[in-house]
Amino acid sequence: RRHLLGLQDLSVDELRTLLDTAQQLKEATNNCREKLSLLAGKTCANLFFENSTRTRNSFSLAAKRLGADTVEFSSSGSSVAKGETFIDTAKTIEAMGVDWVVTRHQTPGTPHLLARELSCSVLNAGDGPHEHPTQGLLDILTIRQHRGNIDGLTVALVGDIAHSRTARSNIWGLKKLGAHVILCGPSTLVSHRWRELDVEVAYNLDEILPRCDVLNLLRIQFERQTTRPFPSVHEYANLYAMNTDRMRRSKSDILIMAPGPINRGVEITPEVADGPHSVILEQVTNGIAVRMAALWLLANAPHNSSTSEPIVH
Ligand code: CP
Repeated sequence: RRHLLGLQDLSVDELRTLLDTAQQLKEATNNCREKLSLLAGKTCANLFFENSTRTRNSFSLAAKRLGADTVEFSSSGSSVAKGETFIDTAKTIEAMGVDWVVTRHQTPGTPHLLARELSCSVLNAGDGPHEHPTQGLLDILTIRQHRGNIDGLTVALVGDIAHSRTARSNIWGLKKLGAHVILCGPSTLVSHRWRELDVEVAYNLDEILPRCDVLNLLRIQFERQTTRPFPSVHEYANLYAMNTDRMRRSKSDILIMAPGPINRGVEITPEVADGPHSVILEQVTNGIAVRMAALWLLANAPHNSSTSEPIVH
């Protein structure tokens, strides 16, 4: 494979190879802190047309940890303001000699467009509400590190499913690896039609809570809502926020996850976000690991697509 556009199209073997490679690179770089020279001489361009803290910086660090150079592009302050198009912008950056273009854009399908237009590898860092494959991978890697396996786990994605690219990538990845996936939130943000993807849809968090091994708490994406949020923020927090009371009614080893950024006091209280069950900051570190793996595997495909041979000696 030359591109990483989504988890929907990946096979189970490809998913496992990405996760195994990420784990191996995380260990080889001392928890993503030390540098290797596996990708020396190569260049990664980050093309971000939407804001980001985690994804952008961890792609940048992932490339640098493997010895590659980076080019950082933000639409604000660029020649996009003079009318340069998305494709012309991407081709201009590619002409500077880059091996991967990492792109985030508010419009679904933009990475697929670039994959047809560019000669280099394209990685999707989030296209509107469609997919966010490296977020799905880092979420699954974090669960796997704590539980050893995904098969048989019950994982609930709670909150703003309607606008969530993270939800879609999690659903594809988790289902392929054998998890039972529950989508939970208000009916204004969780359509019953999701059941067509063979997932459970629930509107009452308190009813499903005792069955959940993992909760992934999705942010209410106020910026993508055209009307006033419904239910209100206050109502949402009452019905769906993970708080100490709900923690008491959960499994004793429940994992609390959030892709971030979090709205403290809306989908999660500070006590839970910063509490012993929270793995939110581990997810951030794992973001570097899965992005190192994606860059490395795309640069080396197809000859080294199996991790049966160690890639770091
Ligand atoms: N989870 C995530 O995509 O965060 P950023 O928007 O900060 O990249």
